[in-house]
Amino acid sequence: MGFRFSQALIRWSKHYGRQGLPWQGQRDPYAIWVSEIMLQQTQVSTVMERYPQFMRQFPTVKALAKADLDEVMALWSGLGYYSRARNLHRCAQQIMAEYAGQFPNSAQELEKLPGIGRSTAGAIAAFAFEERAPILDANVKRVISRFFGITGDQQNHKTVQLLWEHATALLPKSKSQMPFYTQALMDFGATWCTPKNAKCQSQDQTCPMMSECKAYELGQVDRIPAKKKKKQSPTFTTNIFLIRYQDEILLERRPPKAIWGGLYSLIETPWQSIDQKLNCSKPMDIAGLLHQTILSNKLSKGNIGSIASIEEGHVIEHIFSHRRLRMQPWIIHLKRKWPHSSAALDWICTRRLKEYGLPQPIRVFLESSSR
Ligand code: ADE
Repeated sequence: MGFRFSQALIRWSKHYGRQGLPWQGQRDPYAIWVSEIMLQQTQVSTVMERYPQFMRQFPTVKALAKADLDEVMALWSGLGYYSRARNLHRCAQQIMAEYAGQFPNSAQELEKLPGIGRSTAGAIAAFAFEERAPILDANVKRVISRFFGITGDQQNHKTVQLLWEHATALLPKSKSQMPFYTQALMDFGATWCTPKNAKCQSQDQTCPMMSECKAYELGQVDRIPAKKKKKQSPTFTTNIFLIRYQDEILLERRPPKAIWGGLYSLIETPWQSIDQKLNCSKPMDIAGLLHQTILSNKLSKGNIGSIASIEEGHVIEHIFSHRRLRMQPWIIHLKRKWPHSSAALDWICTRRLKEYGLPQPIRVFLESSSR
């Protein structure tokens, strides 16, 4: 082939690729793995702020494996997609137990570990071991689909298989180029070959791929990859109880498998889909509702004790990737501190909130109501 995709891309990255990111130029698979997991669903600018702190606290796989899950969750707070943090911790423990603390050194082995899919395994192997392993995240799928003019549905198994085949065929021949090539491909997808306003669509820029890009040739850049039909995300409602006694508040640790699993949050009523239209109106008897919630969540058999006041808070809206949640806060001041005996509950002084892993909207709410 007169045109070499990988070489054109590497040349491009010398001018336009991302340089000097804290995880670049590394060969330590642990440091690379942490960065790739953090980057999976989080913007580069946010990772640049949060990654150094994570690495300071857990500089090695051993340090992470030994840490308390609560500590890891607290450090992940605000980054979202918390299963990533739980998997990081579990994966570190597995590497200590089954691999004597040494990261497996091939994409094939890496992919067997929790939280590491095929593309992430390829990225880690390419960066840390210069393995000729392809990556195929959403950005790379777009680049390859456009370059080869692949119009098929990106969810379709056959299309994905075809994309992997192209991704493999495009790899540079030389192993030593793999870290540069892999980073260049990610950067090109994220910054030039973007979903909208790709560089080739602007007037003053040319793209190094334009002369060979099928989508460009056919005038289909905006149509490839095909847009997914968006389903309306379902909306749920819940009541959350901010129970206070002086400067302490009562937090409940969420079960590991739930949304926000393992984080601390407020006691809440079961989520109800708004479509159910059942009991969607405001509850009347808040103390009764709280009592019933405490019983059904098996937090206590007894009563919470005497209530000094109940205030209605402003509704909090939170949008997840596939659903929306509307939380109605009730701020309940107790006359006496409730001496519960549940392992899932903790009285926390509001000054110590930073030490706890909390869902971001709950943290914002608690910080604003503790001022
Ligand atoms: N997204 C996933 N991995 C990345 C990386 N190494 N650099 C920039 N964005 C990324």
